[in-house]
Amino acid sequence: MWSRLEQVIINLVVNARDAMPEGGAINIRTSNVTAAETETFNFEGMVAADYVLIEVQDTGTGMSTEVLDKIFEPFFTTKDLGKGTGLGLSTVYGIVKQTEGFIYPVSVVGAGTTFKIFLPRHVLAASEVGSKGPAAAPVRDLTGHERILLVEDEESVRNFSAMALRTTGYEVFEADGGEEALEILEDENFEIDLMVSDVLMPEMDGPTLLKHVRKKMPTLKVIFVSGFAEDSVRRDIEDDQSVEFLSKPYSLDQINSKVKEVLQAALRGSQD
Ligand SMILES: Nc1ncnc2c1ncn2[C@@H]1O[C@H](COP(=O)(O)OP(=O)(O)O)[C@@H](O)[C@H]1O
Ligand SMILES: [Mg+2]
Repeated sequence: MWSRLEQVIINLVVNARDAMPEGGAINIRTSNVTAAETETFNFEGMVAADYVLIEVQDTGTGMSTEVLDKIFEPFFTTKDLGKGTGLGLSTVYGIVKQTEGFIYPVSVVGAGTTFKIFLPRHVLAASEVGSKGPAAAPVRDLTGHERILLVEDEESVRNFSAMALRTTGYEVFEADGGEEALEILEDENFEIDLMVSDVLMPEMDGPTLLKHVRKKMPTLKVIFVSGFAEDSVRRDIEDDQSVEFLSKPYSLDQINSKVKEVLQAALRGSQD
C-alpha cells in the first residue's frame, strides 16, 4: 500500500511541476477530518466519515471546467506528444478508489490547483497500540527530469517502462531496437543523460548497440535490462564500468529506483 500512495503523490507533484513552467510553489499538507466536518463539505458523492486528508497544492495554471471534466480519464492529456501519457491521474484515481477514498480537484484558472484526497481513517485497535509495526522506509525522491533513451523491442515492456519513467517526470525517447536508438541519438544531437536498453534484441543486441554508442558518447550512463546473469553480459561489454544492470522482470518502483540511483551517481561523479 505504501508504494501505491507514493505513486499518488509523485503523480500529483509531477503534474503540479508541469503546471508551473515559470516556477511557483507546491505545498503538501496532511490533516484529520471528522465525520461532522465532512458534512459541511460540498464534494459530490462523498460519504460522511472520519478521514485523513492529503492536499497537494500548486500555484500553477489551473484548469478550465472542460479540462476538469476529463482529467481522470485514461489517456486524457493536454501535454505534447512524448511529454504526457494521460495515465497519471487515472492511476491516482484507481488507487484512491481501491482504498475506498475520494479525490477532488479544486482549481482556479491562473491561480492554481489543489488536489484533495480523503482516505478512510484507520483507528488503532487496543491490540495494535504499542506494537511498533514495520519500520518506516526512508523517504526517497524518485522524480527527475533527465532525458532517457529507452531501447526495448517488446512493445508492452517498453510501454510499461516509458509510462513508469514519464509519470516520474523524465523525458523519454523510445526505440524498438538498436537502429532506431542510433537514429534518435543523432536527431537529439547526442544530448541524452541515460540509456536504458534491453540486452537481447532481434536485429542488434544491447552490447553491439553500446559499441556504436560509445564512439560518440564515451561516458554515457547505461542500464542494461536483462533476464541473464550480469557476469556473462559484463564479459561481452569488456566490463564497461559505466554500465549498470536491472534484472527482468522489474516493478515500476524498481526501474524508477535504479534510474534515480544511476543518475545521482553520475551527478556526483561529474561534480568531483
Ligand atoms: N496540477 C495541475 N494543474 C493543471 N493541470 C493539471 C494538473 N494536474 C493535471 N492537470 C491536467 O490533467 C491532465 C491529465 O493529467 P495526467 O493524467 O497526470 O496525465 P499527463 O500528466 O500525462 O498529461 C494534464 O494533461 C493536465 O492538463
Ligand atoms: Mg501526469
